[in-house]
Amino acid sequence: NTNGLKAGKTRNIIEKIEEAGKNCIIFYGSQTGTAEDYASRLAKEGKSRFGLETMVADLEDYDYDNLDQLPEDKVAFFVLATYGEGEPTDNAVDFYEFITGEDASFSESADPPLGTLKYVTFGLGNNTYEHYNSMVRNVDKALTKLGAHRIGDAGEGDDGAGTMEEDFLAWKEPMWAALAKKMGLEEREAQYEPIFGITEREGLTKESHEVYLGEPNKMHLEGSARGPFNAHNPYIAPIVESREIFNVKDRNCLHMEVDISGSNLSYQTGDHIAIWPTNAGQEVDYFLDILGLTEKRDAVISVKALEPTAKVPFPTPTTYDTIARYHMEICAPISRQFVATLAAFAPDESSKAEMTKLGQDKDYFHEKVSKYHYNLAGLLRSVGGGQKWNNVPFSAFIEGLTKLQPRYYSISSSSAVQPKKISITAVVESQLIPGRADPFQGVATNYLLALKEKQNGEPNPKPFGVTYEICGPRKKYDGIHVPVHVRHSNFKLPSDPSKPIIMIGPGTGVAPFRGFVQERAKQAEEGETVGKTILFFGCRKRSEDFMYESEWEERKKALGDAFEMPIAFSRDGPKKVYVQHLLKERSKEINELLEKKAYVYVCGDAANMAREVNTVLAQIISEQRGIPEAKAEEIVKNMRASNQYQEDVWS
Ligand code: FAD
Ligand code: 2AM
Repeated sequence: NTNGLKAGKTRNIIEKIEEAGKNCIIFYGSQTGTAEDYASRLAKEGKSRFGLETMVADLEDYDYDNLDQLPEDKVAFFVLATYGEGEPTDNAVDFYEFITGEDASFSESADPPLGTLKYVTFGLGNNTYEHYNSMVRNVDKALTKLGAHRIGDAGEGDDGAGTMEEDFLAWKEPMWAALAKKMGLEEREAQYEPIFGITEREGLTKESHEVYLGEPNKMHLEGSARGPFNAHNPYIAPIVESREIFNVKDRNCLHMEVDISGSNLSYQTGDHIAIWPTNAGQEVDYFLDILGLTEKRDAVISVKALEPTAKVPFPTPTTYDTIARYHMEICAPISRQFVATLAAFAPDESSKAEMTKLGQDKDYFHEKVSKYHYNLAGLLRSVGGGQKWNNVPFSAFIEGLTKLQPRYYSISSSSAVQPKKISITAVVESQLIPGRADPFQGVATNYLLALKEKQNGEPNPKPFGVTYEICGPRKKYDGIHVPVHVRHSNFKLPSDPSKPIIMIGPGTGVAPFRGFVQERAKQAEEGETVGKTILFFGCRKRSEDFMYESEWEERKKALGDAFEMPIAFSRDGPKKVYVQHLLKERSKEINELLEKKAYVYVCGDAANMAREVNTVLAQIISEQRGIPEAKAEEIVKNMRASNQYQEDVWS
């Protein structure tokens, strides 16, 4: 979705379908790229197995008031992720409002309005959140209400349980069977057909000015990047500070500040910043090597969509190296379906048999691949015994791997205190996995760690030394800059500072609360009355991971008794102590604060902590007010609905 490319394109979906000769349109509402990937996979499968003329469509690219005119011999798919607190993804907001709105009006006023529409739905959600898959559920409900006919079950994938891919695979077979029956489609032997064509550009070299070497769009390529900076156009922000805030050898937590004064970016306390990472140099090397592309890594190539409705997901002409480094999640979990696709191109019969088995057998796949967090290059190397996989058309990787995604971080500074500097607090993702030689390392956080080392002139202290191409193409990303954009959130302090607040944020969950407390301290210094400000923090040991220890002392000077910070050190004593235990100890006071309409904020781990805190708060209300638990749970629910209880959680 490069800026400017959309100009002049039709927003009329019916016109588009007719013009492109399609009979199956697959819309996606995607935040992190997974829904978009699933849409592409469905499109591909519909075509190769059932001969459907499929196209994939970004929900934000079209209008929906003529959806009632989709001819009866066509079908629409909706692949919809739910974001945050049951919200639509950014690209699905307008569609969602239209389709669920009371007065959705269509071009022809048939009754029911969508009586001829056939549709299929799959939702991507996370059951650790309150509103599990609410996007797909609400859209499905709205479509049914408008008279449309769903084919197959409304599928739901659960990222919280880690079963998204398996849920998707299990849902789609019966769905295809139902669709084939309804539309009278014959299944045929699927043949791989590339969606993208790659041509080598003889006359161009990596030095040629029109060749993209990681620049996200044309303005960046021409050295004239300008705003608005957003999810399609990052700002290359200078890093003004980068330091370690843990006191322990084997774990890292970074505090980093980026300067946004040279941009039109702004933020508010509680917002998120997106970091656009780069894959580790060593991983890029492994990936290109196993595909037999090392020698060609810098050859200039053009990538073209062979399908009129497909979009090349990065700018071209470019190089294999650039695509692997800046545009594809080459380290992410591998889809089992993709493994099955690759089997056809295996270097020998035994690798082919192994890939086929991995593709078919979910338990076997877990045992051999998922359990060790292997990435694609690791898998191909181990299955083929190091032979090159140079028979695979490169298009298969563009189709089968997710676009490299920005990672979001809760901003840990206050915009009232430093409006032009954004701070981030990030724990570096590194896991020792039994049976695996090297530690698993997260993409973005290790990239940030490498930037810090580069900026501070430090040696790379990691035992396995994953290297990062920090200088980047044409030295534009010189190691002291990082591409970012800001995403506004609803996680906000009350506008009246005298209102009491209770913040619960163990580990990196403390990030936004550093900003909240900064802001309240400033208000106190300016003579405003600041209400009770309690921060429940938790970490392993005082001497190791007590983040920002000295800063809290400073804030206390400004806020006085209004500020309190109960801390649960989970590994300092004989027994585990967590934030929710401390909440329980202060039941009486918490209940009194809630009765005074204190705001409650929870940030950090969605899977366990946030749920347990929710449960404990209901218990406190029930015990202190002498009411049944069910009633107390209802009260907590209402607090959420009225924004008195806000969450900023991730898993
Ligand atoms: P990734 O490479 O993305 O890996 C992340 C996880 O994915 C791994 O731990 C693993 O479980 C899985 N995974 C990746 N590759 C594989 C594989 N090949 N096989 C199996 N599993 C795999 N984090 C913070 O530290 N501080 C914050 O303030 C913060 N705020 C956030 C706010 C929001 C709204 C959200 C959504 C997230 C926030 N996060 C925060 C988390 C952050 O966005 C990143 O997810 C985190 O830093 C890890 O990123 P990474 O690129 O280093 O790891
Ligand atoms: P632990 O790792 O010693 O179990 C930040 O990660 C802090 O949150 C750590 O002290 C960690 O303790 C703690 N923690 C782990 N699981 C938790 C849970 N379910 N609820 C609250 N805190 C938790």
